[in-house]
Amino acid sequence: MELIEAIRARRSIRRFKADPVPAELVREVLDAANYAPSAKRGEQWRFTVLTSGAKEAFLKMFDAELDSFIEKNGAAAAGSAKNSCRIMGEAPVLVVVWNNGPYGWLTEEHSVAAAIQNMLLRAYDLGLGSLWVGDVYIAYEAIRGYFGKEWKLSGAVSLGYPDSVGASFKRKTVDQVAEFLS
Ligand SMILES: Cc1cc2nc3c(=O)[nH]c(=O)nc-3n(C[C@H](O)[C@H](O)[C@H](O)COP(=O)(O)O)c2cc1C
Repeated sequence: MELIEAIRARRSIRRFKADPVPAELVREVLDAANYAPSAKRGEQWRFTVLTSGAKEAFLKMFDAELDSFIEKNGAAAAGSAKNSCRIMGEAPVLVVVWNNGPYGWLTEEHSVAAAIQNMLLRAYDLGLGSLWVGDVYIAYEAIRGYFGKEWKLSGAVSLGYPDSVGASFKRKTVDQVAEFLS
């Protein structure tokens, strides 16, 4: 597959089939993450891969955290998080993504974001659907505590075989996002 095809055709997937994802494909996706550029060559990304009961147990905790967040702050404050929780339940694989950068630099987080983008593109290349889930931030401390991690939580990525793909939308043109000075 041409790189530009993956870049242009990859979409966030929010409906997944129940078919399991072979473990080798998950490893391929994570291997692509390892080739991302990283600040000071720090390779700050770390992953916790959840399937089956481990994923269910995690989502039970996350959903309970969401409910107590909504009770305190109202449903509007939770935005799309309940829907993201449903999607993470539907996709057979959930990868929790950590940033273990020791310095607290913003660039450490950028490294992890670059790794996530590699994951999404490789997933597409392998015929998998993916969703980058930032909504896990709502339970930032609870998730770190649940896994006993000192690392920063960067997000999560759902993986599975797509059941449907959302409508495409018009992207900005280069002239809308760039200025050229000479
Ligand atoms: C940092 C980040 C966090 C995101 N978090 C969520 C999320 O929690 N739930 C969700 O449904 N989509 C999430 N998305 C997906 C975006 O909604 C999606 O990328 C955007 O609508 C553009 O659509 P596309 O990915 O199909 O190009 C996130 C994307 C990024 C980059």
